[in-house]
Amino acid sequence: MYRTHTCGELRSSHAGQKVTLTGWVHRRRDHGGVAFFDLRDRLGIVQITINPDLPKEALDLVANVRMEWVLQIEGTVQKRPEGMTNPKMETGEIEVIATDVKILNPAKTLPFMVSTDTDLADENTRLKYRYLDLRRERMTHNIVLRHKVIKFMRDYLDKEGFIEIETPIMFKATPEGARDYLVPSRVYPGQFYALPQSPQQLKQLLMVAGMDKYFQIARCFRDEDLRGDRQPEFTQLDLEMSFVHRDDVLALVEGLYTAMIPAVTPQKKILSSPWPKISHHDALEKFGSDKPDLRFGMELMDVSDTFAKSEFKVFQSALAAGGVIKCIIAPKSADMSRKEVDALTEVAKTFGAKGMPTLAITAEGVKGSASKFVTAEEAEALKSKTGAKEGDLIVFATDARAVVNKVLGGLRLWFRDKLNLADKDLMAFAWVVDFPFFAWNEENQAWESEHHPFTMPKMSDLDKFDTDPGAVSSDAYDMVCNGYEMASGSIRIHRRDIQMKMFQMLGLSNEDIQAKFGHMLEAFEYGAPPHGGMAPGIDRLVMLLADEPNIREVIAFPKNQAGRDIMADAPSEVEPKQLKELHIKFE
Ligand code: AMO
Repeated sequence: MYRTHTCGELRSSHAGQKVTLTGWVHRRRDHGGVAFFDLRDRLGIVQITINPDLPKEALDLVANVRMEWVLQIEGTVQKRPEGMTNPKMETGEIEVIATDVKILNPAKTLPFMVSTDTDLADENTRLKYRYLDLRRERMTHNIVLRHKVIKFMRDYLDKEGFIEIETPIMFKATPEGARDYLVPSRVYPGQFYALPQSPQQLKQLLMVAGMDKYFQIARCFRDEDLRGDRQPEFTQLDLEMSFVHRDDVLALVEGLYTAMIPAVTPQKKILSSPWPKISHHDALEKFGSDKPDLRFGMELMDVSDTFAKSEFKVFQSALAAGGVIKCIIAPKSADMSRKEVDALTEVAKTFGAKGMPTLAITAEGVKGSASKFVTAEEAEALKSKTGAKEGDLIVFATDARAVVNKVLGGLRLWFRDKLNLADKDLMAFAWVVDFPFFAWNEENQAWESEHHPFTMPKMSDLDKFDTDPGAVSSDAYDMVCNGYEMASGSIRIHRRDIQMKMFQMLGLSNEDIQAKFGHMLEAFEYGAPPHGGMAPGIDRLVMLLADEPNIREVIAFPKNQAGRDIMADAPSEVEPKQLKELHIKFE
């Protein structure tokens, strides 16, 4: 038997017991002939005391032992003397007095410390030695938390009558707006499988199969630009239900999250229950984002009326061009220095602003770059409309509505971080609903689906399909939390004629439709039930629950920001023989 107990489980009730423990040397201290090891495994840390009365062979072994060596210790559990207990350690009431020490495996000096977070190595070094990085307490905690989240989801959905069904990884292109990863076929020269960007088609086909209430902890693959909250492969809680309306799906997922958050992370508080539903239009107008952070106010306000007769050129020309003037009120920011305001203007420009007029409300009157151009009456009208008071900085954006919303939405988050306006332990969940069905792609001069092409339009808008596609809204919804999109879903098209129309609107030829989605269209002809579902991202959720800044920190073996696996060095070249078998030649 390697061990009788794990390192985290011994308490004063075990005093007097003989135990065998295994683990890594977390720390070592020597005090006048007595050596102390902190021995660690996944479940905790325990203090081992090596007294000088051990047999000489054992003492000789111990003399060489260094950090992260793997040991087996036999010993006796002893209560620590009065005043020597360590309340910060779960096992802090006891120590194990070693009677024998075996070295199971020595370790080279590690490229970075794993017993502390200070001197944290740069991320690529951590990823190269991910198996060491995961030994750190914070990373172990994240991986265990991820397990708890997934376990909770599985148990909850099982109780709700869902069944977990695996779907293929080697499949056909399933569009979710990214490029596909392709797998060449050896048997069929020139043909490829595509890795699913999501199990979207398969879960809908499962509904046609009568497999109502499906879920899966599903891996998705997308070749797209990476960000802190995006990995090329990531995990969704994918689910689908038959004979449901939008609110049935929302209620199920809201119930799951409302039960799960306190169970897995008791320190987190859900801001409001039931979760607010915000229309896509209102989210953009009030928060400048379709994934608003609702933990703080600072809503965008339209003050076009207040400045309808303004002499200020910037305001005048924006209004004349059909644009708007909107502002946000940054609390306690009237004293921002010129330099800070200039720096912030550069930030505003990255969101598309041409400039960033400001008004600072101070005891000496209204200051800031717009103050010369704003009359006393306008300033008063502005204050009473917006509620701005002494000490506030009013930040304006003037342009076309979409640009203004994006700029102020970005600046709102900038102030959130600067002024510390959002509590990290608050989870401000909300549903964003009533999305437009189509989005116009300026670059390609074509309509695209705002969600994905399987989403049902609002039936009442069907007649606008040809006449005014931009005005068609859809039965799609997003779950948002703290400024992140956490999930998306929709009620699906289950009728062949509507699905056909959708593909045609997206500019696909009939041949293309048949080749790419013929199997879906055919399935819809065999009694497809009305259905809908959703897919919450698991990585983003665990990231928020673990207070991590990006999803790489909650994935055991992520790709780095450039999409590489640094540890195994992938992607990498393959043998010429393999390429030949796959009928692949490089240009
Ligand atoms: P969507 O493409 O919006 O919808 O994805 C759903 C959720 O998955 C997460 N997510 C990601 N997480 C990490 N890295 C990525 N690259 C990444 N891309 C998406 C997000 C997102 O909200 N089939 C539809 C769902 C449905 O209609 O049921 C879909 O995949 O949390």
